[in-house]
Amino acid sequence: LNNGLARTPQMGWNSWNFFACNINETVIKETADALVSSGLADLGYIHVNIDDCWSNLSRDSKGQLVPHPETFPSGIKVLADYVHSKGLKLGIYSDAGLFTCQVHPGSLFHEVDDADIFASWGVDYLKYDNCFNMGIKPIKRYPPMRDALNATGRSIFYSLCEWGVDDPALWAKEIGNSWRTTDDINDTWASMTTIADLNNKWASYAGPGGWNDPDMLEVGNGGMTYEEYRGHFSIWALMKAPLLIGCDVRNMTAETFEILSNKEVIAVNQDPLGVQGRKIQADGENDCQQVWSGPLSGDRMVVALWNRCSEPATITASWEIIGLESTISVSVRDLWQHKDVTENASGSFEAQVNAHDCHMYVLTPQSVSHSDV
Ligand code: DGJ
Repeated sequence: LNNGLARTPQMGWNSWNFFACNINETVIKETADALVSSGLADLGYIHVNIDDCWSNLSRDSKGQLVPHPETFPSGIKVLADYVHSKGLKLGIYSDAGLFTCQVHPGSLFHEVDDADIFASWGVDYLKYDNCFNMGIKPIKRYPPMRDALNATGRSIFYSLCEWGVDDPALWAKEIGNSWRTTDDINDTWASMTTIADLNNKWASYAGPGGWNDPDMLEVGNGGMTYEEYRGHFSIWALMKAPLLIGCDVRNMTAETFEILSNKEVIAVNQDPLGVQGRKIQADGENDCQQVWSGPLSGDRMVVALWNRCSEPATITASWEIIGLESTISVSVRDLWQHKDVTENASGSFEAQVNAHDCHMYVLTPQSVSHSDV
């Protein structure tokens, strides 16, 4: 969507994956505090997004949405002011249907009122869900909220959450800043890998202004190993997915923080070229020895060697497969070891990767010196 936002994928936090409906204004404030004190905000995680269940179960007598009086007694404006005072942005949630998925009021046929009230509260981001949609196609239900948000005059990031219904990559570019390509993720290896593959299919439709959204991160929620979460984060970054943390950042382990704060992986996600990397090779039994790659600015490339097999494997990325000219030499930097592993690779490079682990590299072409010419 050409509203000046989402030049790179959005980064921040969302309440749903960890808290579901157990949210309140204290959790949101403490999360904002933790994003700042941990340093994650400085790394780019600036959106603090409230998901479903923030509102009262019915609209007020004037038909307006109201925050839930027990869990958000101070109101959303006060919360937005607080989040803004920390240099962060506040996101809210509604639904392109009669109700949200947890049966709070939805915004279908209330788009103008709701966009106006969000803007008046100082909201910076709207995630717009797909429950109770009366069987009306998403392509009909999502534009009215875009227009209503635009008419407020406030810059509001518009995140479509239509769960991949009707292949949004094909129609959502002019409607939202990101669109969900799949059903909900859950905190398992099977869910995460399945979603990565589904999202991969739409790579060519992503770019500055509009991104494929394979759903929020599960890193730190406990259902996967350290290596599996590292793969999750690496592949989401490479796919130019939104990096929305879904754990309790007030209580992160050192390992969780190490993954989420990897500056070099974040830089791949936020690279100004904005091209979604993709799966380019799948070898071995069940295609489990995988190479994912894509172009970065400055003629560099990102390559991930992702071992989805249950045994260690040596995975090779050849120049032919990743689309480098055969004569080019590159230096190879390992983004998880934080070191240059090869000064001068030509033709291909390979690494031994443990089961369910993922290595990630940036390849930089060697400048040809004059004496070589
Ligand atoms: C379905 C969405 O896909 C989830 O991300 C979450 O927002 C829930 N609804 C909330 O009910």
